[in-house]
Amino acid sequence: MEVKTMMFTAEEVEKAAALLRNGEVVAFPTETVYGLGANALDREAVEKIFQAKGRPQDNPLIVHCFTRAQLTDLVTEIPPEAKILMDKFWPGPLTLVLPKSAAIPQVVSAGLDTVGIRIPDHPLALELIQKTGFPLAAPSANLSGRPSPTRAEHVWADLQGKIPAILDGGETGWGLESTVLDCTVKPFRLLRPGGVTLEELQALTSIQVDTTIYGASLDATPASPGMKYQHYAPQAEVFLVLGQNTPAKIGELSEDYLEVGKRVGVMTWDERCQLYPRLTCLPMGPSGDLSILATKLYHLLRESDRLGLDVLFIEGVSEEHLGLAIMNRLRKAANEQVIHT
Ligand code: TXA
Ligand code: MG
Repeated sequence: MEVKTMMFTAEEVEKAAALLRNGEVVAFPTETVYGLGANALDREAVEKIFQAKGRPQDNPLIVHCFTRAQLTDLVTEIPPEAKILMDKFWPGPLTLVLPKSAAIPQVVSAGLDTVGIRIPDHPLALELIQKTGFPLAAPSANLSGRPSPTRAEHVWADLQGKIPAILDGGETGWGLESTVLDCTVKPFRLLRPGGVTLEELQALTSIQVDTTIYGASLDATPASPGMKYQHYAPQAEVFLVLGQNTPAKIGELSEDYLEVGKRVGVMTWDERCQLYPRLTCLPMGPSGDLSILATKLYHLLRESDRLGLDVLFIEGVSEEHLGLAIMNRLRKAANEQVIHT
């Protein structure tokens, strides 16, 4: 059923809160990406999220809180090390997976006995959660399989006609989703690299992080249900190219496509666009600046669609700091089609 989608400004946050209190879904900005929120304690409201996104039922949602006091009713236990992480990184892009209480409906946790929780670091998100009076379950506000939205217009492109409202808070800060850390096992397990980097977690001597799972192949039993789905896919066929002298390799590979009239793009640092005179360049920002790249990444993947690219070559970046999360998303966008030069 088509619904009319309203676009609310920051001044209209109360209207968004009223819709949520009425059991509706609303897209809202966070410091990472836009989320599609609903009352985390209301099964029927949460089911509307899955419907609007076309999200598989076995992929659990993150619950967004306004204060730590809200956690008391949502989880049964918080290990002391998890408290250290909350002190250090909340509000912020770190989701902690904890044992869930009976207050969290099964649909939120996709039948798991755990729940992922975070306090977002965005004034509008916090105001919205405070005004509604309950925690918000929210996945990224994209259609399932599309790049996460970093602007209200991205949400509009995907969900217009499917949700009643979008709260427009401009461009999100980080541009990449939160880091997801499973705190129900020892050592804690990294399920998804994100805004809080592995280096930052490892710098805390009291915290040990197991990183083996996150790198597991796509068809291994996923520790986090979300890991098995192809995400962030543009319509073009995507190749992730790693190693030295990528221009020679990409030049050679693009020949065949250009010859038959395909539109071929390359995603690379600003300064390197000139190395690809025959391809459409999607500039990643100044060379080596991972935080600027993070803010642009999903927009560039959407640009690839807007430009109607058939093939997109992406130059990989180093997997340090934010680069770990960026490469995780790029591998998924490329559906693991990785070329080593
Ligand atoms: O930055 C973010 O995390 C954004 C904003 C809106 O907060 N949200 C987001 O949600 O990216 P989503 O649904 O697109 O991704 C959540 C990820 C999925 O990979 C899901 O499988 C995992 O977190 N996850 C959620 N709850 C989990 C749980 N109880 N156990 C394991 N993984 C969980
Ligand atoms: Mg998502």
